[in-house]
Amino acid sequence: MYSTSLLIFTLLLTLASPAPAPSATASYTLIDNCSGASFLSCFDFFSSADPTHGFVHYLNQADAQAQNLFTITDDTVKISVDSTNITPDGRASVRLQSKKLYNRGLFVLDLVHMPASTCGSWPSFWTLGSAKPWPENGEIDIIEAVNTDTTNHMTLHTSDGCSITGAGGQGRVVTQNCFVGAAGQPANAGCGVESASAASFGSPVNAAGGGVYAMEWTAERIAVWFFPRGSVMGDLVAGTPDPSTWGPPDASFQGDCDLSTHFVDHSLLIDTTFCGDWAGSVWSSNPICSALAPTCADYVANNPAAFAESYWQINSLKIFSQW
Ligand SMILES: *[C@@H]1O[C@H](CO)[C@@H](O)[C@H](O)[C@H]1NC(C)=O
Repeated sequence: MYSTSLLIFTLLLTLASPAPAPSATASYTLIDNCSGASFLSCFDFFSSADPTHGFVHYLNQADAQAQNLFTITDDTVKISVDSTNITPDGRASVRLQSKKLYNRGLFVLDLVHMPASTCGSWPSFWTLGSAKPWPENGEIDIIEAVNTDTTNHMTLHTSDGCSITGAGGQGRVVTQNCFVGAAGQPANAGCGVESASAASFGSPVNAAGGGVYAMEWTAERIAVWFFPRGSVMGDLVAGTPDPSTWGPPDASFQGDCDLSTHFVDHSLLIDTTFCGDWAGSVWSSNPICSALAPTCADYVANNPAAFAESYWQINSLKIFSQW
């Protein structure tokens, strides 16, 4: 029995080993379909202290499933936060990190719902090169904003020697230097692009029935598109994506940056944290949120029902490659 499995394993390896011949018009091939019941085969639950200092308690898989904060029903993945308990030590939530590491590719997240634009919340869909101390292997923030924001912020974080021009994207370049310690930029800002659409994050996305976010990472650039439900490109719906036909992305990161050295071995992450380095640090400057409670942690601890809409509901997550 052992030798039979070994034989099958060897056979699979042999079948899998020939690399596809490079072609002039390389098209994307689905390499990981992290959808429905397969979702869990792609991700681990990160349950350590939040590296971004959030007022959060990340659950392991057993606890997340026992508390119904991670469910898969009819091929739909739902990732929620605690919305019933007063939580003086941080609100229970989930942070998922892909088992596989990626270098370049096309990452497509089709969601029905994402955490709403809610005071205290800081949801994110992002990639992180974690093998070296942050940010030596880079970070790519695909979906991210805090508190009452409805505009998506797309950001790269790197070590020194990487900056962008922003040419080619529709969004507004907020900061150009991707180096987290760059002079003349807020600490850890990185290079950031704000979507041109004020309905690209949180509540308005949910009101539209969700949509599809796609991040293309090539040797030349990193680009992000968002297509609201009803405007999703046909090739994406068909599962044969060709970003060259999609028109200008929401953000296009290119310029004076060697992507192959600044972005290495990235895992894919999905999480919802609270307060911390971003949502917490801007709490007092948000008039809506600061009117609710003196501090972000105070609000998040004592208002569980406010987070009933702080969930991701995912139709599919697909990773494509042409290399
Ligand atoms: C991806 O996985 C989902 C869920 O299992 C499945 O319904 C779908 O057919 C898969 N897509 C492809 C192209 O394999």
